[in-house]
Amino acid sequence: MEVKTSLLDNMIGVGDMVLIEPLSEDTFIENLRKRFDHNEIYTYIGSVVISMNPYKSLPIYTAEKVEEYRNRNFYELSPHIYALADEAYRSLRDQDKDQCILITGESGAGKTEASKFVMSYVAAVCGKGQEVNKVKEQLLQSNPVLEAFGNAKTVRNDNSSRFGKYMDIEFDFKGDPLGGVISNYLLEKSRVVKQPRGERNFHIFYQLLSGASDDTLQKLKLDRDFSKYNYLSLDSATVNGLDDAASFRTVRNAMQIVGFMEDEVQSVLELVAAVLKLGNLEFKPESRCNGFDESRIKDKNDLKEMCELLGIEQSVLERAFSYRTVEAKMEKVSTTLNVAQAYYARDALAKNLYSRLFSWLVNRINESIKAQTKSRKKVMGVLDIYGFEIFEDNSFEQFIINYCNEKLQQIFIELTLREEQEEYIREGIEWTNIEYFNNAIICDLIENNKNGILAMLDEECLRPGTVTDETFLDKLNTVCAEHQHFESRQSKNSKFLTDHSLPHNCFRIQHYAGKVLYRVEGFVDKNNDLLYRDLSQAMYKANQSLIKILFPEGNPAKVNLKRPPTAGFQFRASVGTLMKNLLTKNPNYIRCIKPNDKKAAHIFTDSLVCHQVRYLGLMENVRVRRAGYAFRQAYEPCLERYKMLCKQTWPHWKGPAREGVEVLLKNLQVPAEEFAYGRSKIFIRNPRTLFFLEEKRRQCLEDLATLIQKIYRGWKSRTHFLLLKKSQVVVAAWYRRFAQQKKYQNIRSSALVVQSFIRGWKARKLLRELKHKKRCEEAVTTISAYWHGTQARRELKRLKEEARRKHAVAVIWAYWLGLKVRRDYRKFFRANAGKKIYDFTIQRIMQKYFIGLKKTMPSMSPVDKSWPARPYGFLDGTHQELRRVFHLWRCKKYRGQFTEEKKATYEEKLAASELFKDKKALYPSSVGQPFKGDYVEITKNPKYQKLNSLVEDKVLLADVVSKINRANGKGAPRIFLLTKKSLVLADQKTGQVKASVPLLDLSSVSVSTQSDGFFALKLKEGSTSAAKGDFLLSSDRLIEIITKLHRIGATSADRNQINIDISDEFLVQFKQDKVCVKFIQGTPKNGNGVACKRKNNRLLEVSVPSP
Ligand SMILES: Nc1ncnc2c1ncn2[C@@H]1O[C@H](COP(=O)(O)OP(=O)(O)O)[C@@H](O)[C@H]1O
Ligand SMILES: [Mg+2]
Repeated sequence: MEVKTSLLDNMIGVGDMVLIEPLSEDTFIENLRKRFDHNEIYTYIGSVVISMNPYKSLPIYTAEKVEEYRNRNFYELSPHIYALADEAYRSLRDQDKDQCILITGESGAGKTEASKFVMSYVAAVCGKGQEVNKVKEQLLQSNPVLEAFGNAKTVRNDNSSRFGKYMDIEFDFKGDPLGGVISNYLLEKSRVVKQPRGERNFHIFYQLLSGASDDTLQKLKLDRDFSKYNYLSLDSATVNGLDDAASFRTVRNAMQIVGFMEDEVQSVLELVAAVLKLGNLEFKPESRCNGFDESRIKDKNDLKEMCELLGIEQSVLERAFSYRTVEAKMEKVSTTLNVAQAYYARDALAKNLYSRLFSWLVNRINESIKAQTKSRKKVMGVLDIYGFEIFEDNSFEQFIINYCNEKLQQIFIELTLREEQEEYIREGIEWTNIEYFNNAIICDLIENNKNGILAMLDEECLRPGTVTDETFLDKLNTVCAEHQHFESRQSKNSKFLTDHSLPHNCFRIQHYAGKVLYRVEGFVDKNNDLLYRDLSQAMYKANQSLIKILFPEGNPAKVNLKRPPTAGFQFRASVGTLMKNLLTKNPNYIRCIKPNDKKAAHIFTDSLVCHQVRYLGLMENVRVRRAGYAFRQAYEPCLERYKMLCKQTWPHWKGPAREGVEVLLKNLQVPAEEFAYGRSKIFIRNPRTLFFLEEKRRQCLEDLATLIQKIYRGWKSRTHFLLLKKSQVVVAAWYRRFAQQKKYQNIRSSALVVQSFIRGWKARKLLRELKHKKRCEEAVTTISAYWHGTQARRELKRLKEEARRKHAVAVIWAYWLGLKVRRDYRKFFRANAGKKIYDFTIQRIMQKYFIGLKKTMPSMSPVDKSWPARPYGFLDGTHQELRRVFHLWRCKKYRGQFTEEKKATYEEKLAASELFKDKKALYPSSVGQPFKGDYVEITKNPKYQKLNSLVEDKVLLADVVSKINRANGKGAPRIFLLTKKSLVLADQKTGQVKASVPLLDLSSVSVSTQSDGFFALKLKEGSTSAAKGDFLLSSDRLIEIITKLHRIGATSADRNQINIDISDEFLVQFKQDKVCVKFIQGTPKNGNGVACKRKNNRLLEVSVPSP
């Protein structure tokens, strides 16, 4: 079983000063001493941890101790810094409150160590994992790097932090570290060039020279011997218990872990080496003709090596140490530097180089350790700032450091003393005020904007005219003389006029932790922090990239004539921001106390401790604590946290939270004096009560967890069971269905088999029956058919017999009747009866004939040759006669319709028929052609106007004919005009008359029997026209032409009719010769057309194609 320890177990003195009895300064210190003697270096005042520096390593920081304190309540175990760290970490993780751990105490009291313990504890207890471990490692390893560059041995502390450090460690919601941010405050850079007696420069210089390999040193052009470097004090170059060489290796390793690149490490070391080299530059005066001294570098070897290291041109740097360029209003004035100014410039450069390198290191580390996520983070800030310090010779740096400590004390007072007391009053808790010293007045003396010391210093630095540290002191003497905490020899306050402990060039401030004498020398310079522009420009020209980054103002493209803010101003601003930041977080205090001035173990100097206890206000702290309440919380969160401890408030309290808390506490039987009800908060006097509540809560939570687990498990098993059950039902249902289906199918198929057998059997039985029945029926039918057949035949025989008998009867009857009729006829019709019957019959037949003829009459067309057939042979003659009469009548009817004109036409056609029918082969083709007469439209055609006018009579016929050439038989077209009196031949084209022949001169016309259109017009011998000879012409309309010519003779009385010869050979008179025109049947080679050829003088042969 776990053994529970308690704060009260095996207690040496009292672990919590609140419990001390009686409370006095003596008992307080006695308690501290007692505990210190027993190596109990931690003591509580409530939640504040007092830490005594043991100056020896104690076995209380082991992994087992970490486990012991992990997740335990603050007062549960004996006091330890781990308890505070655990408390802070858990309230950060579980209650989502950002935390800050404020470590205060004077220089060497153990602040830096304490901060490291806190960090390592948090690292040990927070989450694990590859990524998280890397973050932790980087956060922890940032310490050795910063300590090497920012810590130094002082008379008070061998590892004194010479810079302020505030580190925010960032966590995610689970409490796993994500990264961190480090802020650094004003490095004491004056240490680079000068160290007080008994102290030394920053560790890194010594570590580099002792720890670096020969090779590295050679590369850096360094010598291992410290004495070779002006900037390194020799009297305390080695420190007991410090192994610089080992530390160097640790630092290199840490730099690698944090994430420095190899070339970055190299650059950093080069800069460190450059600072050492810079310290070795020495100057000598060189007289100039104008009487002024000008500085010159004595030995240029170091300069050369340094320039080579940084990659700067030697001449550039050399010039920067001899001249100074002042720029004012666009004008550049170059002045020479004297030896003192050159040394000042050298030191300023070294200080700036080093301090800027330090700031760069912090930024570089931040870059490595910064959280990679943008999600909300929980923050734990650890503040380890340089402690309050009093040296023999205190300067600007101490002033700044002590100011910072004043501010921290202010926060402590504000939060633990003033705030707390005010809260009791605000909450209406009965309270007797406890007096304490408020250092706000000292803070005001330093930082007041109007007449604070820092403001005076800034004013002095910016003032035109000669400004010296003395003028600054004068100013302070006039402005601050009245202030209670300011002391000066020259001030109006006469009480210091004879104070010999107060030199003339000093002022003294009564800090909360004691009086400190500040020598004004260097205040103005250090505040100005001037670096000649020539130097920064020279640095910017360096090849090395890191140094370029460190001196951005050296960039000629970015010349800024504005003065940079003073060191004091910057520091005041950054301290202001820090304070604001701290006030937003939940503070946890570690107040470090230094037991002796000798850095020795086991020595407890009462006076020293007493002094610290006083100025830290620890007594007041205890008093407030004892009078007050250890714990307070608003009602709502309190009820929310503990409501499970009482049945009435669990799980929900309906009324106001305060009443809920009252019910709760009453129910838990917490003694009434243990708590007080404020207006909005419950105040719990004793931490033990709180632990009691917490313990109860923890148990209750365990029970609740078990309950929740139980219910959850029950629920889970039940749902699982229900699911199984449901699945089982589903499976069973499916299976049953399947089985039933199978069974049903089996039954069904058997039923079908049985059924089919029975049906088959039944069917076969039926079939048999039906077949039997059918056979019986067939037999019956056959029998009956035979029977019917026999019957029918018998009947038929009988009927035939009867018919024969009946016929015989009828014949006999007819014969008998005929005999009887003939006998009667002979009796009644003797004379004339035959003729009468005959006439009547004939009459009837004729009647029928005519009526039938009427019905079958042919059409009225004269050419219709049809006629109905003869019905009776005896009517043959009548029938033909009737046909002739009908035809004549029909022709008469037809003629009756004719006009005169048509009649003439038909007469002409008739004449043509009489002339040519069956005589000339051309005739049949002309029957269908109407005789138009004028084919060339002689009267209408304007071409023949003249010709028309020449002809006197009416033109009977006008047509184009071809005139046959007598010589070759070829034809030429001619217009042929025929009037009553003459015929005219004219040219077809021009209409010119070629020949005009009076008809009286015409004797005859000859044509062939064939289908050609040749005709010869023969002239009377001796007539006037006959001189030229006969005309042989050809025309398709021959029939019409000849008919018309012939009819002229018929109609006019004075003329004889012209003869028409139709023969295949005739003679024609051509001038003197008589030529025979002979028509022959054309052979196929002559083609279809009519061809005429002159054969010889006497013969003209016309071949006509056979029809
Ligand atoms: N808890 C401790 N255990 C052992 N030695 C300690 C402890 N605290 C401080 N010291 C010693 O005291 C020295 C000074 O402590 P440090 O933390 O550097 O002081 P501060 O930061 O307050 O000036 C350390 O170098 C160490 O030797
Ligand atoms: Mg420190």
